[in-house]
Amino acid sequence: MKIDIITCLPRLLDSFFAHSILQRAQVGGYVEVVVHDLRDYTADKHRRVDDYAFGGGAGMVMQIEPIARCIRSLQAERPYDEVIYMTPDGTRLNQQTTNALSLRQNLIILCGHYKGVDERVRELFITKEISIGDYVLSGGELAAAVLSDAIIRLLPGVLNDETSALTDSFQDNLLAPPVYTRPAEFEGHRVPDILLSGHEAKIDEWRHEQALERTRIRRPDLLD
Ligand code: 6GU
Repeated sequence: MKIDIITCLPRLLDSFFAHSILQRAQVGGYVEVVVHDLRDYTADKHRRVDDYAFGGGAGMVMQIEPIARCIRSLQAERPYDEVIYMTPDGTRLNQQTTNALSLRQNLIILCGHYKGVDERVRELFITKEISIGDYVLSGGELAAAVLSDAIIRLLPGVLNDETSALTDSFQDNLLAPPVYTRPAEFEGHRVPDILLSGHEAKIDEWRHEQALERTRIRRPDLLD
């Protein structure tokens, strides 16, 4: 898989992709992530990527020309399955969308900033608009990092058995059950006996009940 991220703040994303699972996924060849500085695609000598909104009002708008130049130069290299725009007015991200995107080959992710992008960018280039929740961030970079992380950890081989994505919360529309490790007793607080019993089938059953119960209490909307 290849993920191309377009942003006017590339440094913001560098450290995020340089650590832990995301770094291993790239070193292991499971994914190639390339961060593109939108300012490299301006014709303007001041490297501006934004301008005042037509019609007035507060806030700058990201211009179409540098974005068009950047997306077109990428599309000239290979076909892209999706050109995703990270925006608070997009469709709210969930595990189902993440699973579907993890099956794609090439993705472009455009990070919004200021008051957003010129509407013609959406009309001409964007195939999917994604939000990561009902709150506003100062830019789409963190949202792009969230989306990329959620996708990359699902790629076959990226996680080992112990961290398998199959047992994540949300994969079966249930929250994950509680987990414990040594010591079996901490200041009088004991790990549930069933987990120490060695009865694999009973443990599976207990975990499923706990997952159901936790979902019922915390996220009943998932059970509807
Ligand atoms: Cl994708 N971008 C911004 N700027 N804010 C957000 C968001 C995205 N998703 C939730 N809030």
